[in-house]
Formats: sequence, C-alpha cells, structure tokens
Amino acid sequence: MRFFVDTANLKEIEEAADLGILDGVTTNPSLMAKEGIKGAANIKQHYKDICSIVSGDVSAEVFSTKYEDIIKEGEELASLANNIVVKVPMIKDGVKAIRYFSENNIDTNCTLVFSAGQAILAETAGATYVSPFIGRIDDISWDGMKLIEQIANIYERQAGFTEILAASIRNPLHIVKAFELGADVVTCPLKSILGLLNHPLTDIGLAKFLADAKKTEA
Ligand code: G3P
Repeated sequence: MRFFVDTANLKEIEEAADLGILDGVTTNPSLMAKEGIKGAANIKQHYKDICSIVSGDVSAEVFSTKYEDIIKEGEELASLANNIVVKVPMIKDGVKAIRYFSENNIDTNCTLVFSAGQAILAETAGATYVSPFIGRIDDISWDGMKLIEQIANIYERQAGFTEILAASIRNPLHIVKAFELGADVVTCPLKSILGLLNHPLTDIGLAKFLADAKKTEA
C-alpha cells in the first residue's frame, strides 16, 4: 500500500512528507491553477520544488492533446527530475504517447480513466499507473469502487505491470475501500489521509491511559 498526495500545494506536500508515509504526489492543471502557478517557466520550477521535497513519484500532467505535442511536453517534464511521471489523458493520442514513453523508459500515469475498457488500453500501451477517478464516478450516482474492483480483477489475470492509482478520492472510507478492492496506490488530499486517524475509542482509551498514568506519578 502506498499513499500519494493529490495537490500542488507545497505546504501540504511538506506536511505529508513530514508524516513519514508519503510515497509520491499527483497534480493536475486544476491543482496548479489553484496555487496560482502561471507560465511554462513557473510550472517547471514548481515541479522542481515538489521534487526537492519528495523522492517518490511526482505526476506532472501534460496540457497538450496532440501526439507530437504530448511527446515534446512529456519529455520536457521528464527531464526536470528523475522522479517525474508524465501524466497523460486517456485519449487516442494519449494512448499512442504512453506507448512511446513506455518504449523510451519514461514513466506515465494515464489519467481521466472512468471505465475498465480505458484501463485495459492504458495497460496495453504500457502505462506505469492507471488513474480511475472514484469520486467523480460517485458524483454521477455510479459506484467508483466497482471500477477499482473490476480493473484489479482484470489486471490480476494479465502479466502487465501497470499499477492501479485510485484517484479522485474524497474521504477516508474511499481510501480503505480502494485498498481493500485492489488499488496499489491511493492519491488524495492530506485531509483524507489524516481522517484515517480518527476513532472515538482511541480518544476515550488515550484519555483513560493518560489519567491512569497520572496515578503512577511519584
Ligand atoms: O488528480 C486527479 C483527481 O484526483 C482529481 O480529483 O476530487 O478533482 O475529482 P477530484
């Protein structure tokens, strides 16, 4: 089991790294925009800053949608740091680009995956990670977790190496279910990871232990 944080916020990444359980970071154009990062040079610098905090995989998403442009942009992103994973959308030119990157030893994260068929294409093209978007499927009243289970079952029968990176994770229960059903990695806001800490019996138990510890004081 591995945790990535789904953010471009350096403070949040530092806080997650400080927790000692951070394995990587995923970003997307919306998360970069949320941080107010503008212009190619600033975007590249921001990825370098993230990679200086995290030694695990850092997904950097291409903005291009045409094959040649995706290759150019992806190669530029991959050259920024050796832990950059090029995030490519699940479109026809994206699949073709994933195949190219795979043959040229550049790791990829196939994003915007909402069906088992798309996950099959990503795996066949040689994606390092496939990112099914759980929360967004739930948002339209379908069951995102069913997709995790389906992809895990399909991948288990194949000899491929693509890992399931459960994305669009919105709460602690999503994390538990995603791992339970076969996700290799979960990416989510730090808040959802910290939510796993909460249990009233832990709070009650700790209060009792601390009260009893006082009784043992000399
Ligand atoms: O990074 C992709 C994904 O995790 C986005 O999540 O919450 O915007 O659906 P969300």
